[in-house]
Amino acid sequence: MKYLVTGGAGYVGSVVAQHLLEAGHEVTVLDNLSTGFREGVPAGAAFVEGDVRDAAKWLDASYDGVLHFAASSQVGESVVKPEKYWENNVAGSMALLGAMREAGVRTLVFSSTAATYGEPEQVPIVESAPTRPTNPYGATKLAVDHMITSEANAHGLAAVSLRYFNVAGAYGAYGERHDPESHLIPLVLQVAQGRRDAISVYGDDYPTPDGTCVRDYIHVADLAEAHLLALRAARPGEHLICNLGNGSGFSVREVVETVRKVTGHPVPEVVAPRRGGDPAVLVASADAARGKLGWNPSRADLAGIVADAWTFAQSIAREQ
Ligand SMILES: NC(=O)c1ccc[n+]([C@@H]2O[C@H](COP(=O)([O-])OP(=O)(O)OC[C@H]3O[C@@H](n4cnc5c(N)ncnc54)[C@H](O)[C@@H]3O)[C@@H](O)[C@H]2O)c1
Repeated sequence: MKYLVTGGAGYVGSVVAQHLLEAGHEVTVLDNLSTGFREGVPAGAAFVEGDVRDAAKWLDASYDGVLHFAASSQVGESVVKPEKYWENNVAGSMALLGAMREAGVRTLVFSSTAATYGEPEQVPIVESAPTRPTNPYGATKLAVDHMITSEANAHGLAAVSLRYFNVAGAYGAYGERHDPESHLIPLVLQVAQGRRDAISVYGDDYPTPDGTCVRDYIHVADLAEAHLLALRAARPGEHLICNLGNGSGFSVREVVETVRKVTGHPVPEVVAPRRGGDPAVLVASADAARGKLGWNPSRADLAGIVADAWTFAQSIAREQ
């Protein structure tokens, strides 16, 4: 099959593109390199440097489907520059859906996020939980989910939205290098590498076993496998929404301690005040992904996730 991967020069898109190639598919990556890297595009994929808002220029009936990763995804930036997020994430997705309709490409897998739920009333979070995003990033992703539902209902799109929790780890040459970095594991690894003095722990008085926030970390390779299953599960006229997480969480302190063990380096920590809008615990129920996609994540072990991310971080550091 032939797939267009938008955002395939970024972290998650590059790993999924590589998995598609390994499964024998033909892949074209469409990426404007705003936060991605040319070397993130897997060898074997065709590359178009361009914007998703211009997808109609490249999409034609030869494609069997689209995997849509291209987005702006920094929560903090979305609060101060919401217009960038509505434009890139919502207008970008709208243009893509139009291009798909025009070309007759009728299968879509979309990167949604746990941020669509906001502060949960209950954990683990199920897909029927209220969606009350607490920042513009989550709001734009939720808007796109609604847009996709309408497209499926009105025009028969076969669509799956995957709501990722905290993606982590690396897959061979493909890993996480956001700039600025806001995700915990790569930040703690930067401390282990001596590129940062200390890791800030935002609040240690939450109602959790060690007082620090608990999050659900999912290995990027497990996540990639869910995308391939989603392509198979997509049905015309249906929009399936599935959380992707491991269903168990790790606290900030557990992550820091795991990084110390895996890397053998000291990681100084500094306790800072809580950040507004940080829920104490965010953990997914992944029952829908298991039941409806047949997904069976096999890399839930935090030490393994950190070890893969560390190998990647070290390889990047050698290149710089
Ligand atoms: N990484 C996570 O933990 C996480 C969690 C939840 C959801 N997501 C979602 O997964 C997707 C991928 O995230 P990531 O961590 O790989 O981010 P990333 O920034 O590494 O990748 C995004 C890619 O999209 C490209 N891009 C952005 N806007 C574009 C546009 N208008 N046209 C063409 N290309 C464009 C960027 O250059 C980049 O290569 C995003 O949609 C994000 O919202 C990520």
